[in-house]
Amino acid sequence: MSKDGGLQGLPKIWSHENPPPGFDSVGQGVRIASTVTIFRGSEPHPKRGIRLGDNVVLFDRVRLVMGDLIVNSQADLIIENNVMVNAGAYLSGEGGLILEEEVLVGPGAKILSAGHEIDGPPVSIFGHSLTYGRICIQYGAWIGAGAIVREGVTVGRGTVVGAGSVVTRDVPPGAIVVGNPARFLRWRKGFESTELRGQGWWNRLKSLILKAVH
Ligand SMILES: CC(C)(COP(=O)(O)OP(=O)(O)OC[C@H]1O[C@@H](n2cnc3c(N)ncnc32)[C@H](O)[C@@H]1OP(=O)(O)O)[C@@H](O)C(=O)NCCC(=O)NCCS
Repeated sequence: MSKDGGLQGLPKIWSHENPPPGFDSVGQGVRIASTVTIFRGSEPHPKRGIRLGDNVVLFDRVRLVMGDLIVNSQADLIIENNVMVNAGAYLSGEGGLILEEEVLVGPGAKILSAGHEIDGPPVSIFGHSLTYGRICIQYGAWIGAGAIVREGVTVGRGTVVGAGSVVTRDVPPGAIVVGNPARFLRWRKGFESTELRGQGWWNRLKSLILKAVH
């Protein structure tokens, strides 16, 4: 019996005083699999970076992408307390990404806060500049396996994004969305009322404040 109560495959806990290379800060009880990879410039930034709250778990082969924090003024990746990111997920913080408390990210999901300019010359997209859009996955949302979330999108509190869905627009709190492009399926039972949606004004204000300070 292991000290984790018999569960096998849980990554080891890192000391928050001594975060692993590439992480700017980690909270208490954070678990990061040895196969997690990070793509970022070597220079740290005083205000932005890869910051993990308490009890965050990053399972095998999760990839965190930041680029160069000094050149790119949008890059930031905040993962709040009790977030669990399942195997093979791809999290881009290039345009800014926040996973609020208790968010679950399914295996192979891709959260993409950057893309490429597509219009006008040159023909080759290679020669175009990058586009950025901050993504916020709000408290308690569940991003299903293999789902894709596009730049600039806010996924509301307690939302469920179905497996394999492609989220191109903001999703209201308490909704279940599925498909490509993701469409509203129904409200989560018990949240048809305004209980979650009633806090929309606060979430919008919070997003505006976050955008303004970055
Ligand atoms: C989104 C989800 C929670 C919905 O569950 P549900 O409410 O039980 O939905 P149902 O199975 O009753 O399906 C309702 C309708 O939505 C469709 N649907 C459900 N999930 C879908 C998905 N991921 N993509 C596209 N359509 C989906 C069904 O085909 C059905 O359509 P129909 O009414 O035309 O037949 C579930 O389907 C899902 O995707 N779960 C994620 C699983 C996962 O990622 N697990 C990884 C563990 S971390």
